Amino acid sequence: MINPGRPRNQSRPTRSMPFSGLEYADPKKKGNLVGKILLAAALTALCIIMLKQSPSFNTTNVFSKHEEGVTHVLVTGGAGYIGSHAALRLLKDKYRVTIVDNLSRGNLGAVKVLQELFPEPGRLQFIYTDLGDAKAVNKIFSENAFDAVIHFAAVAYVGESTLDPLKYYHNITSNTLVVLESMAAKGVKTLIYSSTCATYGEPKKMPITEETPQVPINPYGKAKKMAEDIILDFSKNSDMGVMILRYFNVIGSDPEGRLGEAPRPELRDHGRISGACFDAARGIITGLKVKGTDYSTADGTCVRDYIDVNDLVDAHVKALERAKPSKVGIYNVGTGKGRSVKEFVEACKKATAANIKVDFEPRRPGDYAEVYSDPTKIRLELNWTAKHTDLQESLEIAWRWQKAHRDGYGSA
Ligand SMILES: NC(=O)c1ccc[n+]([C@@H]2O[C@H](COP(=O)([O-])OP(=O)(O)OC[C@H]3O[C@@H](n4cnc5c(N)ncnc54)[C@H](O)[C@@H]3O)[C@@H](O)[C@H]2O)c1
Repeated sequence: MINPGRPRNQSRPTRSMPFSGLEYADPKKKGNLVGKILLAAALTALCIIMLKQSPSFNTTNVFSKHEEGVTHVLVTGGAGYIGSHAALRLLKDKYRVTIVDNLSRGNLGAVKVLQELFPEPGRLQFIYTDLGDAKAVNKIFSENAFDAVIHFAAVAYVGESTLDPLKYYHNITSNTLVVLESMAAKGVKTLIYSSTCATYGEPKKMPITEETPQVPINPYGKAKKMAEDIILDFSKNSDMGVMILRYFNVIGSDPEGRLGEAPRPELRDHGRISGACFDAARGIITGLKVKGTDYSTADGTCVRDYIDVNDLVDAHVKALERAKPSKVGIYNVGTGKGRSVKEFVEACKKATAANIKVDFEPRRPGDYAEVYSDPTKIRLELNWTAKHTDLQESLEIAWRWQKAHRDGYGSA
């Protein structure tokens, strides 16, 4: 293009040469330039200071580095019932916590409660991820410096597992492999694994010890047993410290009413006895159906071992504290005392002060008469015993949260 106004080789007139073609440096202008540079430097410094003080800046930094005297724990499934209670306890005990959850069963509301309680930078971060996505999981392990993992995340309904077994093998067994591979790749030193008494199946002899043969009878129990086997095989040639905790039936909630159990309403049919009891007390279901009154137990109904979630969480902290490199610990976590369904229903009626209608029906196929733990090993080796063993009291606490949160965390 031709510029008719000025030949190409002619320099552009500048305002700094007003006299006889001589370069004239305006001292005021120079002062301005220096001032501008200083101002820019000051603003940049201010930005860096502000950025450093902002929670997100610190969080990124802090979570990605190991820090002397601080144990950074990855809590998978930390938006769920047990995981959120565990995260609360860990945070209270000054651990640094990263929650990874895909919110398929858990509640963002629980994470928000925790974030409000521990807003300080470097205490808690939440990462929304599906553990089935190995690439995403690897990335999380690359970007964060974990000292330990408590692997709670799982689908966890026996009934659902019989209807959709592949979901259970994928979610429980395969995802545990993904987590373990990432841990191995990054040299994370400690794993606490959430297992279950369902891995024992129907043992002939009660109480159940850790030596009781594991013969699971449903896909949930089988998937958990397979995950245990993978962990145990891996640990033979690894210096990772491993603790496998086999929980019995978990009930209760935070005594200060900050967290509770809020399962998806669509899972109600597969739900646990405490959930059914609260639903009946609220009139969401017409009453409770007790299946089987002719078992060879004291009152003819099934007997189970109910462990309060606060005790369970305490067992995790003890396991975390006592995990040792290259060592594996396997523990039952229960009260050691069986309670019948009739006893449970009576405690529930008292706890809710509701006149719950109870129908007694024939046995449900696949239910076993009695399941309760022998918790001697965990008492002797980890110095843990269940403290909250008053069924009615645990249910009262849980009921308080349920009453105040009629729509779960949605109404909080
Ligand atoms: N509740 C019990 O009575 C009981 C008894 C024995 C063992 N357990 C075990 O305890 C653990 C926690 O159970 P819970 O009762 O808190 O269940 P929950 O459903 O309340 O919590 C599980 C959490 O894991 C998350 N999750 C599931 N799949 C995921 C995935 N692929 N990626 C990321 N997050 C995922 C869910 O969103 C949820 O927040 C489970 O491993 C369960 O098998 C529970």
